[in-house]
Amino acid sequence: MLSHILKSSQFKDVNYLDTLFASAEEMREADEKNKLVKSLEGKIIATLFFEPSTRTRLSFEAAALKLGASLLSTENARQSLSVTAKGETLQDTIRIVNGYADAIILRHHEKGGAELAASVSDVSVINAGDGAGEHPTQALGDVYTIKKELGKLENLKIALVGDLLYGRTVHSLLPMLSLYPGNKFYLVSPPQLRLPGEYKTAGIEFEEFDSVDLVLDKVDVLYVTRIQKERFASEEEYKKLKGSYVIDGVSMKKLKQDAIIMHPLPRVDEIAAEVDSDPRAVYFRQAANGLYLRMALLAQILQ
Ligand code: NCD
Repeated sequence: MLSHILKSSQFKDVNYLDTLFASAEEMREADEKNKLVKSLEGKIIATLFFEPSTRTRLSFEAAALKLGASLLSTENARQSLSVTAKGETLQDTIRIVNGYADAIILRHHEKGGAELAASVSDVSVINAGDGAGEHPTQALGDVYTIKKELGKLENLKIALVGDLLYGRTVHSLLPMLSLYPGNKFYLVSPPQLRLPGEYKTAGIEFEEFDSVDLVLDKVDVLYVTRIQKERFASEEEYKKLKGSYVIDGVSMKKLKQDAIIMHPLPRVDEIAAEVDSDPRAVYFRQAANGLYLRMALLAQILQ
């Protein structure tokens, strides 16, 4: 059984993923019938968030509450915890929280933050985003969404669009989707925001593009991401690239009829509001799926 969830390369077994997705489906059905088993009663889960979050923190917290766990929640840990406010190290903070909680959901502003935390933690650490590193539970929810929407996870053409340099969701999604045979990736970004070499591992079939128009009629999944403003050295640098890609009604005409468009959210201006009513736009369902996936994950880790 997995104890820490730190990066998506930990997941090597597609059967394990299948079981997790089936468990997420069971959670959804039980929830809809108001028949959830409070399997985490008596457990305490700490959410330590050193960076802003809407979906990830709230869906983890909702997942914990629905399964009967209690929460210790810090939504603004960078200001409120001694770790930055008083100069305490992340490791000491984690050692202390180990005494209070049965699992720690951590979002940290530095790449490697979750691994550092796990190195001193006796309770499970779940990486809810580590700087420009990874976001493995988002990838689990994303892969679950593709399976649910398209009915398969192999032989797909997948475009990853936007900030591939700093976008941690794509850093986790690409290795996970590469576990399935026959998948091909279309990496669409400005040249300055290309996917780092460490994620272009052997056996991954990919092509790089500057323009999203070149891939719209080819792909089964169009996965759009936000330019990660907070990772740029200056506002000037960000402004140069802001608005590089906008998916609108015209783009949707070129997209295949049976394709889907995804986004981890929040979106800024990458997807026009007019796209929301298109049945191929699955990003709100994608966010909802994250709740059930996280319930399945917590139940599995903490039981
Ligand atoms: C993403 C993140 O925090 O990396 N959001 C999320 O968790 N759904 C994507 C982003 O912030 O752009």
